[in-house]
Amino acid sequence: MSLTTPSDRLAQNVLASTTEAIIVINQDYSIALLNPAAQNLTGMSARQAMNQNINAIFSGQDGLLYLINTAMEEGRSISDRETIQLRRPTAEDLPVSATVSPLFTDTGQQEGVILSLHDASHVRQLEQDIQRADRLAMLGTLAAGLAHEIKNPLGGIKGSAQLLTMELENRDDLLEYTQIMIKETDRINEIIEELMNLTTPRSQVLSEVNLSKVIREIVLLQQQSEICVNKTFDLQLDPTIPPITGDQTLLTRLFLNIIKNAVEATAAGGTITISTRIDTQHHLTRPGQHPVPFVVVKITDNGCGISKTMLKKIFTPFYTTKSTGSGLGLVISQKIVSDHDGLLHFNSIEGEGTCCSIFLPFKRDLINHNS
Ligand SMILES: Nc1ncnc2c1ncn2[C@@H]1O[C@H](COP(=O)(O)OP(=O)(O)OP(=O)(O)O)[C@@H](O)[C@H]1O
Ligand SMILES: [Mg+2]
Repeated sequence: MSLTTPSDRLAQNVLASTTEAIIVINQDYSIALLNPAAQNLTGMSARQAMNQNINAIFSGQDGLLYLINTAMEEGRSISDRETIQLRRPTAEDLPVSATVSPLFTDTGQQEGVILSLHDASHVRQLEQDIQRADRLAMLGTLAAGLAHEIKNPLGGIKGSAQLLTMELENRDDLLEYTQIMIKETDRINEIIEELMNLTTPRSQVLSEVNLSKVIREIVLLQQQSEICVNKTFDLQLDPTIPPITGDQTLLTRLFLNIIKNAVEATAAGGTITISTRIDTQHHLTRPGQHPVPFVVVKITDNGCGISKTMLKKIFTPFYTTKSTGSGLGLVISQKIVSDHDGLLHFNSIEGEGTCCSIFLPFKRDLINHNS
């Protein structure tokens, strides 16, 4: 089949320049064309793929083969934007959105199909981030209910330990134990308070928050602490970014949690980079309102990084790899970001470092959120 004539330079240029990965498949299921974007996406060169049978090229990728077969046999377009993972010889599997359309000749005869693939990793990641936020919100409700039940008996234990302390006035050897009981019940109490705050936070106090100022103040404070000795902060804060509408105390807590994690993960000599920019690609749209852009704060460290398996757990309440950590820092951070209609996302490479991106929308509906 002749898909492009030599004189049709425009069509060739379009195929060569488009970022959409396009693979043309003949009626006999052999590959007739693979544009440069498709070569990039699949990791196969045109030379490797040309004339090869599609069943061999996409062997074992039943979802993709099903789409191709259906379009070929039924002569209609078919898409799957949700479930297809593209297997690649030299790179990791990639979530893609795929559309297969029949290709017709001038006389209306079908002479093959066009498979177009689109990198969907960002969209799927976004979906996962939203699902995680929803799951955490549910878990928070459960945990807060449980916490409420624990608080009363805990008060009884602490009261008894205090009474015991008075009774044991002359027994220094035993007093040490009652002190531990009191200290530990206080610690449990603090964790419970945190959990309860997850679902019943104090009502938000909204104001115009200058993120650069908040971040600078946190960094200044952190720099005084011992753990920051020999660690560098690189601030790349865009001075033109306008204030965002939010709760200053909660946002301070959010950035403190994330910056502390970065500091704790970084060894002496390491750097924590904090940048802010306006995201012009994504907007938050509420019914009846103008879409508003996001500000993106990235907190990047070149510390220990997080393995793929651990990355799935870091938002689990009480998950911590630190001897003194509560494992609630990120759960609370996620809650604060969700309450500000934002998104929280982690990228990390074990042994190289971590980047936490926080997306916060600029303007918020003051009436809705104050009530
Ligand atoms: N920047 C980072 N680099 C490496 N690991 C991280 C980073 N941020 C978070 N983690 C991992 O995620 C885990 C959970 O973090 P989270 O902030 O929820 O709790 P924590 O820091 O352990 O305790 P707390 O925040 O109460 O002090 C951490 O124990 C750590 O293993
Ligand atoms: Mg933490």
